[in-house]
Amino acid sequence: MSLFRKKSISTLLKETEKNNQSLKKVLGPLDLTFLGIGGIIGTGIFVLTGVTAAQHAGPALVISFILAGIACVFAGLCYAEFASSVPVAGSAYTYSYASLGEIIAWIIGWDLILEYGLAASAVSAGWSGYFQSLLSGFGVHIPTVISSAWNPAKGTYFDLPAIVIVLLITFLLSRGVKESTRVNNLIVFIKLIVVVLFIIVGAGYVKPSNWTPFMPFGFSGVATGAATVFFAYIGFDAVSTAAEEVKRPQRDLPIGIIASLVICTVLYIVVSGILTGIVPYSQLNVKNPVSFAMIFVHQNWVAGFISLGAICGITTVLLVMIYGQTRIFYAMSRDGLLPKAFSTVHPRFKTPYGSTWLTGIIAALVGGFVPLDVLADLVSIGTLAAFALVSIGVIVLRRTQPDLPRAFRAPGVPFTPIVSAIACVYLMIQLRAITWEAFLIWFIIGLLVYAFYGRTHSELHSKA
Ligand code: ALA
Repeated sequence: MSLFRKKSISTLLKETEKNNQSLKKVLGPLDLTFLGIGGIIGTGIFVLTGVTAAQHAGPALVISFILAGIACVFAGLCYAEFASSVPVAGSAYTYSYASLGEIIAWIIGWDLILEYGLAASAVSAGWSGYFQSLLSGFGVHIPTVISSAWNPAKGTYFDLPAIVIVLLITFLLSRGVKESTRVNNLIVFIKLIVVVLFIIVGAGYVKPSNWTPFMPFGFSGVATGAATVFFAYIGFDAVSTAAEEVKRPQRDLPIGIIASLVICTVLYIVVSGILTGIVPYSQLNVKNPVSFAMIFVHQNWVAGFISLGAICGITTVLLVMIYGQTRIFYAMSRDGLLPKAFSTVHPRFKTPYGSTWLTGIIAALVGGFVPLDVLADLVSIGTLAAFALVSIGVIVLRRTQPDLPRAFRAPGVPFTPIVSAIACVYLMIQLRAITWEAFLIWFIIGLLVYAFYGRTHSELHSKA
């Protein structure tokens, strides 16, 4: 039964209060909403929309976004409830430790490493695509060899811009969260302006005839598209990884999660509708579809601004992903499931310095060598698995801890979490066999690490 031992929620909260090394409390609701948007709008909308419309969904990309958005809103409501009852760092991992027991918490934490760590890598590849397209607008071309992930047949070996940007962001994060969120807020603002600019300028060029045929690949294409663009929504849960640095977590975390998710869902639906209305879907298979659409209608200046904004926007996603990853490491290490080195806080910067650099260096290397589509699908499957488990956790916690104070209660429980779990599993099923295989291998490695390290080093083990 020790596999299912649980952390008590009140102990969790007390530990956090007492923890001498606890992180600085500096974030408010607006910071959190911006952190959410910073984590959400990025490579998904700026890059994956094109290939998804061209290969899977056609103009029905809008429906794919709506399907994935519905799954996320339900999962987001569950997250918000968890986040408001267990406001400590570590996201879904910590919540499940309190509700479902250690082994499930470990599995979720291990899935989240797949989510955040690999998302940072995937997103850096998208960043590199827009960066290179902006440079080519000025007639500058990066040598092919270092312009894209490992693919010797095409003469590319690694993606240098992707590696450099991840290391730069890692440096910023290692210096302290306050400075980083200030930069984040400014850049998220720029990103929103660029998306709105696209909507305003693009709306005038929409040709409704481009929307027919609406579903060229049938509904199965739309469903596969939904699983692929699910990647675009990932990041809202990163808001909850910042719990220990929030001034009033009980009230502010749910606000941050729901507000950022709703804003992004609306923007995605509008952007994908306009995108497929401007450019015939079959021509959208490019690395920079959003700025490409503007070039398509000869709005080259707007295209330039959008590239610049996309670069800024994708940068904040990187910031949030690497940040989230280090905080999950922090929580897992504090519980003894990972070595203590992962939760050592720098005396002056008050950040988990060592684990930030470890995360950054690995993310940089993976992003530099592994292609974007492989990474994006792996990120999606890991995240969907974690979301499904968290949704079930909401139901369990309502039964086992009915009186726990919850600043936010998800409406319609158990209906909401059940729909969320089913939607997540449905989207997982749409992903390729190779993605499932990689996911299972990762899962087995995780179980081995737990069996040989986490189980015996767990804080709960020493207390037992
Ligand atoms: N949602 C994030 C993006 O689209 C991961 O880049």
